[in-house]
Amino acid sequence: MIKPTKCNAHILYNCKVFFYVYFCIMISKQTIDKIFSTIRVEEIVGEYVQLKRAGSNFKGLSPFHEEKSPSFVVSPSKQIWKDFSTGKGGTAISFLMEIENFTYPEALRHAAKKYGIEVEEDQREFSEEAKHAQTEKDQLYKIHEVANSYYQEVLWDSEEGKSIGLAYFRERELKDDIIKKFQLGYSPEKKNAFTAYAEEKGYTKEILEKSGLSIFPENTPSGIDRFRERVIFPIHSFSGRVLGFGARILKNNVKTAKYLNSPETEIYHKSNVLYGLNQSKQAISRKNVCLLVEGYMDVIALHMSGIENVVASSGTSLTTEQIKLIKRLTENVTILFDGDNAGIKASFRSIDMLLTEGMNIRVLLFPDGDDPDSFSRKHSQEYVEKFIENEAMDFIDFKAEILLKEVGNDPIKKAEAIRDIVKSVGFVQNALKREVYLKEVSNKFGLSEQSLFNELDVQKQITQNQNQHVQQQKEKVQPKLEIVPLDEEKEDPYLYDVLFMESKLVDHMLMFGDIVLKRRNEKNEEYQITVIEEILMHFEEEQYNFLVKGNEIIINQVKEGIQKDELRSGNFFVTFMDEEITSKVVDALMPLDELENWGSRNIYPPNYGDKIAEQVQGDVLLHKYRYIDYLIKETARQLDEYRGTDEAKYYELIKKITLLKQASIRLSNIIEYSPIKGIYVDRKR
Ligand code: CTP
Ligand code: MN
Repeated sequence: MIKPTKCNAHILYNCKVFFYVYFCIMISKQTIDKIFSTIRVEEIVGEYVQLKRAGSNFKGLSPFHEEKSPSFVVSPSKQIWKDFSTGKGGTAISFLMEIENFTYPEALRHAAKKYGIEVEEDQREFSEEAKHAQTEKDQLYKIHEVANSYYQEVLWDSEEGKSIGLAYFRERELKDDIIKKFQLGYSPEKKNAFTAYAEEKGYTKEILEKSGLSIFPENTPSGIDRFRERVIFPIHSFSGRVLGFGARILKNNVKTAKYLNSPETEIYHKSNVLYGLNQSKQAISRKNVCLLVEGYMDVIALHMSGIENVVASSGTSLTTEQIKLIKRLTENVTILFDGDNAGIKASFRSIDMLLTEGMNIRVLLFPDGDDPDSFSRKHSQEYVEKFIENEAMDFIDFKAEILLKEVGNDPIKKAEAIRDIVKSVGFVQNALKREVYLKEVSNKFGLSEQSLFNELDVQKQITQNQNQHVQQQKEKVQPKLEIVPLDEEKEDPYLYDVLFMESKLVDHMLMFGDIVLKRRNEKNEEYQITVIEEILMHFEEEQYNFLVKGNEIIINQVKEGIQKDELRSGNFFVTFMDEEITSKVVDALMPLDELENWGSRNIYPPNYGDKIAEQVQGDVLLHKYRYIDYLIKETARQLDEYRGTDEAKYYELIKKITLLKQASIRLSNIIEYSPIKGIYVDRKR
C-alpha cells in the first residue's frame, strides 16, 4: 500500500513561466513546505474579504466580482477557497497571486513574512537571463521600493532633508513614529538627484520614465526628477506595496500645484487606490466602519490621534473600484467633510454610488474652518471619536437638510429638492430601509407617503433606462458563467457521455483517492486497493485515451507519484502550479453544495463518502460502457471511409465493431441502476 503524501507545491511539473522555475529554485523546498503547513487560508483571505461562518465553511462576497449575495467560500478544513461567481479557486497562495497580482514566489514571500517564517534560499547566482525574465511590472514595483527608501533616507540622513523636510513635518506636529509608519520622505532640490541615484544602481532610462519618477525632456542629455524639493507621501496598495507617490510643495508662494502626484503607470491606477488603506485596513475591519477623508494629512493626523480606521480619496471623487476596496472590510462609511467644503454638493453623486453598492453612509461636517487634520490636533482622541459618533448624520437626512436650507420658500425649488432626495433613496439597496427613509422624508416635508412612493417609481424607471444601456454593454464583455459543453460535444452525445464519466472518475481520484477499498478477486480472496489504484488500473486496462487534456496531466502525475511511492490526491494538485488543474481540483473538492450551506438548514446532501466503494465500481463500469459505445460510433464512421477502397481494412473494422458490440452487450447485462442507492452498480455482486 502506498502512503499518501502531503502537498508538494515545489514539484513544479508545469512551469509555464520561466520566471517561476527560476524563483522556485530560489526558495528552498523546506521553506515552501513550512509555508504551506503554517499558513491558514481563512486568515489570509480574511484580510481581504469579510468572512462569516457558514457551517464548517466561511462565506463572503467575492472580491473578484460585483455581487450582492455571497458566493465566495473558504474551507478551513480543506485549506482552499472557491469563488463560485467567477469560477476561480485555489490555495491561500493562489489567492494572494490572484488578488495582489503577485508571482508565485512573491506570494510565498508575502505569506512567509506575515507568519514570521524565515525564507531560506538556495544559493544560486542570479543569471542574466533570469534578470531579463522579470516582467516590467516587477521592475516598476522594484523601482518604487528603491525610490521609497531613497526619499526616506534623504529625509532622515541628509542635511537638506533634516533641515527642510523633517522640519516641515515637525512644524505640522508629526511625531517621528508616525512619519516612519507612513514612510514619509523628502526629495532634494537637486534636479536629478534620484535619477542619477537610480541610474547608478542600473535602472534604465526606459523604466525610470515608465515609472514616472524621472522625466526625460526632448533635447536634454539626461533625465530630471519629477519630485523636487517636496515632502513625499508614498501611496501603498492594499497589501503595502508602493505604487506611486504624492508630493507636497513646501513654499506657499510658488505657483505650481500644492500636490504633485505620480502619473498613471502600469502599477498605479489612481481610481483603484485609497490612500492609507494598507495602514488602516485592520482597524476598519475591527471597528466595522471606514472614515473617508480628503487628504493625505487628514489620514495621518487621525492616525496620530489614535483613530486608525481612515482612508483618503486623495482629492478626487470616489470611484466604484475604491468603494469595492472598502467593502471588502466593512459596509459602513462615514464621510468627513471640511467645514467650509464647497464640494459637498458635488460629492452627492459619488455618495449615490456608495448607496448603490449597498453601503451605509453617514456624513459629518466639521465646524467652520476645521478639517479632520486640524480638528484632531485640537482635541483628544476620545473627544474626536465621540464627536464623530454623535454628530455624523445619516446621508439622506444630511442631504435633505442641505437642500432644504437652500430652497427657502420657493415651491418649485422645493419640489426639485424632494425629487433629488427621493432619487438618492432609490439607490438604497435594502427595501425596508428605503421605506423608512421615505417615511422620514414624508414627515419632514409634510408630503403624503404615497406621492413619494410614486415619485420613487418614476425615478427608478429613469435610472433603469439609463442603466440598461450600460448593463447591456457589460454583459457583452462579461458573459455569465455557465457550464456549456463545447459545440463539438453538443453535437456528439456519445463523446459527451464519455467525457462526463472520464471527468467523474478523475474527480473521484482527487476527492477520495486515498480511501482504501476492500475487494475480492476471482478466487474470492479479499484484497485492499485504494480508489486511485483501482481507477488507474481501469484506465490502463482500457488503454484509454483521455479526451480532456487536464485529466491526462493529472493521471500522468498520479502515475509518476505511484512510482515514487506517493499517493497524489486532492492536496497534491491543489498546490500544483497549473491554473487549470488547480481550479479543476478545487471544483472537485468544493462542490456547489458548499455554497448553499444546507447543513445550517438541517438538510444534508447524500454523503458520497459512505458509498464510495460502490460508486467507484459503478462509475468505472459506466465509463467503460460509454467508452465502448463511443468507440463503436467512431469505428463506424471510419468504416465509411474504407468502403470500396481498402477491402482488408474494411473487414478489420467490421470485426472490431462486432467485438465491441459483444462487449457492450456483456456490460449492459452487468450494470444495473439502483434507484435506492442512486448509483449504477454491478448486478453480479
Ligand atoms: N490634492 C492633489 N493635488 C492638488 C491638491 C490636492 O492631489 N493640487 C489632493 C491631495 O491628496 C490632498 C487632497 O487632495 O491631500 C486634499 O487637498 P487639500 O485639502 O488642498 O490638501 P490638504 O490635505 O489639506 O493638505 P495640507 O493640509 O498639507 O495643505
Ligand atoms: Mn489641510
